[in-house]
Amino acid sequence: MIADIKDKRTTYYTHGFHPYPAKFTPQIVNRFFNLYCKSGFTILDPFCGSGTTLVEGVLNKMSAVGIDLNPIAYIISRAKSSHYSSNEIDTIRNFISEIQPGIKVGLFANFNILPKSEISIPNFPNRSHWFQENVSYELALLKKKIDEYENPNIKNLLYCAFSKIIVKVSNQDSEVRYTAKEKNHPDGIVLSSFTDTVSNYLQALNTDKHTIIDNAEVHNGDTYEILKNFSANHFDFVITSPPYINTFDYYLYHKQRMFWLGYDHRPVRKKEIGNHHRIDTKTFKVAKAEYIQSMTQIMKEISRVSKPNSYFVMIIGDGIVEGTTIDMSQVVVDICENNNYTIEQIESINLSDTTRSFNKKFSNAPKKEHTITLKNNK
Ligand SMILES: C[S@@+](CC[C@H](N)C(=O)[O-])C[C@H]1O[C@@H](n2cnc3c(N)ncnc32)[C@H](O)[C@@H]1O
Repeated sequence: MIADIKDKRTTYYTHGFHPYPAKFTPQIVNRFFNLYCKSGFTILDPFCGSGTTLVEGVLNKMSAVGIDLNPIAYIISRAKSSHYSSNEIDTIRNFISEIQPGIKVGLFANFNILPKSEISIPNFPNRSHWFQENVSYELALLKKKIDEYENPNIKNLLYCAFSKIIVKVSNQDSEVRYTAKEKNHPDGIVLSSFTDTVSNYLQALNTDKHTIIDNAEVHNGDTYEILKNFSANHFDFVITSPPYINTFDYYLYHKQRMFWLGYDHRPVRKKEIGNHHRIDTKTFKVAKAEYIQSMTQIMKEISRVSKPNSYFVMIIGDGIVEGTTIDMSQVVVDICENNNYTIEQIESINLSDTTRSFNKKFSNAPKKEHTITLKNNK
């Protein structure tokens, strides 16, 4: 199934706004919308990440709700699935035209460049290892300017662009290589990367699709805690890709971005399900049990907030702890059968056959990815 969508474009509309590990392919989401949803439905992605489900949800005229623990995921999901008024678009366009990079590096047309003494650069561990001084100054200046906006929609879109450029303007080798290398970034790199990014965003938003969509509802926090606020039988359909065990560390991936945007990564690290930090110090048995316990709690809540006879599609990959592969389809089956769900279908493929993987090391491991369709029989 996943192999079928290999050649289709995955960055249309706002889908290309920001990189994100283990992103959904929009066509997969649509395949299940076509099978189980209709316009007007209220749908949930309880681990929405960069908001692929939410974008497709609003484009398909559904009320889309997403939850994610990571504040960067929250910013990206909102930026991608919000409606922007023409006034908001004009304000954003004006903002970037003020920044227009000048001919001389570091000089920007009408942008009020403040003296270094008036800019407070955030102090976080190893900042000078990861960011050149000129880059840090420009980032701090830009962040200060964005903070001045009161309109939450505008501010959030600009934060999303700010977050997108962080790795490029840092000394980090690439999105997936966490080593520092000398890049000799010239003055002006931050502001020019930022204006390019925002210009691309505006171009993506300038489509017929944009005029029809409504905002998705995005929540930032622990899924189990947030779901408690929803009444029973609220959702018509659920689709998600939960965190895999011992595979990605989303808090780590976004750590520099969180520093720059003023977030503390430590509470995220603590609550993020499946990450290495939570698993490394434990035995296979304990790590697996802890993961199952977190997911069981959440599945129980998902079952409660879902309508009777509604469908729930979960895409999940196997994990390896202490050299032993954990077959996640079996884990999910065990959890779900204790929480009113019956298994309608399981499709499994080798991860090395997909293009969805963010990281080759991850995709080449002997692991499978399972697409599991569940029905709520409560
Ligand atoms: C596989 S990713 C989702 C990717 C998403 N489908 C997309 O298209 O971008 C899993 C997500 O689960 C989130 N997560 C991990 N633990 C969480 C928790 N306790 N509560 C809420 N979200 C959590 C991570 O931050 C990550 O964004």
